[in-house]
Amino acid sequence: MKNLLIVSHSPSPNTKALTEAVVAGASNDDIERICIRERPPLQADSGDVLWANAIILGTTENFGYMSGAMKDFFDRIYYPCLEQTQGLPYALLVKAGLDGQGAKSSVERIVTGLRWKQVQPALICKGEFRSDFIPQCQELGMTMAAGLEAGVF
Ligand SMILES: Cc1cc2nc3c(=O)[nH]c(=O)nc-3n(C[C@H](O)[C@H](O)[C@H](O)COP(=O)(O)O)c2cc1C
Repeated sequence: MKNLLIVSHSPSPNTKALTEAVVAGASNDDIERICIRERPPLQADSGDVLWANAIILGTTENFGYMSGAMKDFFDRIYYPCLEQTQGLPYALLVKAGLDGQGAKSSVERIVTGLRWKQVQPALICKGEFRSDFIPQCQELGMTMAAGLEAGVF
C-alpha cells in the first residue's frame, strides 16, 4: 500500500464539492493499493505529511495568497518535514473568485523550499462555479492515485 494525503481547505459548499470530487477521484474502484487520508489544513500535521507518499493540496485564493489555513499548515509542518520529505510528489488545486495565480505562486514558493516535486500542472478553478470543475477535480485525484499506485512518481 502507498499513502495519499489530501489537505484541502473547504470553507464553502463549492469548495467542499471540489474537495469531495478530488477524494472521489482518488478513491476510484480500479485503484486498489492506495490508502487515502483527507485532512482540513488546520487539522493536518507533520505526522500526516511524513505518512504520505504523495500529497494533494487544495486552497482558496484569499487576498492574492493561499488561504490562511493553508499557510498555518505550512508554518507548522515546514521544519519538521524539511529533511524527510524532499521529493514528495504533489499536486495543487486552487479555487479562486477571479484569479488564482497569487495562491498558486505562494504555494509553489513554499513547496520549492521543501523540495517537493510537482507531478501535475496546478488546477485553478476560477470565476463563477461551473459544473465541469467537478470532473476536473475527480481527474486530479484519480491521476495522483493511479500514478502513485503505478509507481510513475
Ligand atoms: C477574504 C476573501 C478574500 C478573497 N480574495 C480573493 C483573491 O484575492 N482572488 C480571488 O480570485 N478570489 C478571492 N476570494 C474569493 C475566494 O477565492 C472564493 O470565495 C473561494 O474560492 C470560494 O469560492 P466560492 O465562493 O465559489 O465557494 C476571496 C474571498 C474571501 C472571503
